[in-house]
Amino acid sequence: MGMEAPGGVAFRTAPTAAEALRTHLAEHPEQRLHHPHPFDVSRSDIYAEDRWQPIFAAMRAAGPLHHIPESPFGPYWAVVQHKAVQHVESLPDLYSSSWEYGGITILDALSDEELATLGRERFELPMFIAMDRPKHTGQRRTVAPAFAPQEMKRLEADIRRRTGEVLDTLPRGEVFDWVDRVSIELTTGMLAILFDFPWEDRRLLTFWSDWAGDTELASIRALDEQRRAILYEMAAYFQQLWMRKAQAEPGPDLISMMIHSPAMNQMEPQEFMGNLVLLIVGGNDTTRNTMSGIIHAFDRFPDQRKLFEEQPDLIPNAVQECIRYQTPLAHMRRTAKEDAELFGQQIRRGDKLVLWYLSANRDEEVFDEPDRLDITRENARRHLAFGYGIHRCVGARLAELQLRILLEEMHARRLRVHVAGDVERVRANFVHGFRRLEVEVTRF
Ligand code: HEM
Repeated sequence: MGMEAPGGVAFRTAPTAAEALRTHLAEHPEQRLHHPHPFDVSRSDIYAEDRWQPIFAAMRAAGPLHHIPESPFGPYWAVVQHKAVQHVESLPDLYSSSWEYGGITILDALSDEELATLGRERFELPMFIAMDRPKHTGQRRTVAPAFAPQEMKRLEADIRRRTGEVLDTLPRGEVFDWVDRVSIELTTGMLAILFDFPWEDRRLLTFWSDWAGDTELASIRALDEQRRAILYEMAAYFQQLWMRKAQAEPGPDLISMMIHSPAMNQMEPQEFMGNLVLLIVGGNDTTRNTMSGIIHAFDRFPDQRKLFEEQPDLIPNAVQECIRYQTPLAHMRRTAKEDAELFGQQIRRGDKLVLWYLSANRDEEVFDEPDRLDITRENARRHLAFGYGIHRCVGARLAELQLRILLEEMHARRLRVHVAGDVERVRANFVHGFRRLEVEVTRF
């Protein structure tokens, strides 16, 4: 990686999350999983190969939710229709997000007993995305002001300047990787601005976020030690940053605001750290993959790219439509705290419900011709890519701002981007996006 964190923590030898997964599967082909159930959408090949659409369409046609009795992640309910996802999310006291029952992804967070059996300590940090009321409410309230409209105004000029700089340095007449040159650069740059994170180390945010957010990787026990070591290093880095900022005068950045807010002072250091990491991981893969998704979708639907070029007033709606179309997080998970009936199905206490946003956002009952990108779509805003209810993405405004600025600055420079080489998708059932997107830039 060629990076070094303060305190002498060397990352030079550590592979990226994608490299580690590839090497492991090459050495252990028997661990490539077999999936007998036709509706088992936990299989990552359907996302890597972009052929999940007909599977979810068949599932939606057959009903709002389906029980999958067996999968590499254990049994689960696949919730696939828009109305059903929204319904489950509107009952957070019944359908829990808490890590105590398994957390927010299809991969179960280990319980205290399971950890004891394995002889391990818990190393996941407590985060409010994986908490229920009332604790969730208080912690969310402390960071929400950082995403208020006046804060977005304050950040806008900086984000616009950075975006312009990145676009101005893109090579002309040459194929390059949009993911690395633009999506990652702009997303990590924005997070570095938001946190006042050391600029020269900003790619560490990408490296950590990839290791922290990859459910496929986290399901491979043989990589546990390496993953744990990397996450510990990340915590150590933030601890130092936190201490530096705690001793300095209060500043306008998010870490300083958190440190000096009275509500945060009540928080355990572990929780403070967990929430910081949540903001970084939450804001990283998601915005990055929408930035790549926009380019890929415009290339697949050149009539829509043309419309954007001719009518820049459509940009705010185009942002919503591109988020719907890409849906950078394929799912979130809930666990039933009680027995309940759900759209005619009997849910048992402890059952895992996987809410497939990817499917809800292609629900033909809500969206006409859902597999088409349509930047004039009147109800694009009804997408569920940010979730719904009390956990709805706290960073949504910031994500929308960055994406709007990207499109505006591309338009101001009359940039047209074509897919011109390799397209490699993320092999995962949680983060939905691109590892590599080779493009060429021309002008319109
Ligand atoms: C296009 C970009 C983004 C997408 C699609 C996205 C998606 C999501 C989703 C699906 C959830 C869970 C909602 C639920 O359970 O109902 C969530 C929560 C969250 N997101 Fe985002 N996100 C994006 C950008 C960001 C950014 C830029 C940040 C911060 C810098 C952020 C921080 C968070 C946090 C802190 C939560 C937890 C909220 C809670 O539990 O109350 N996200 N996001």
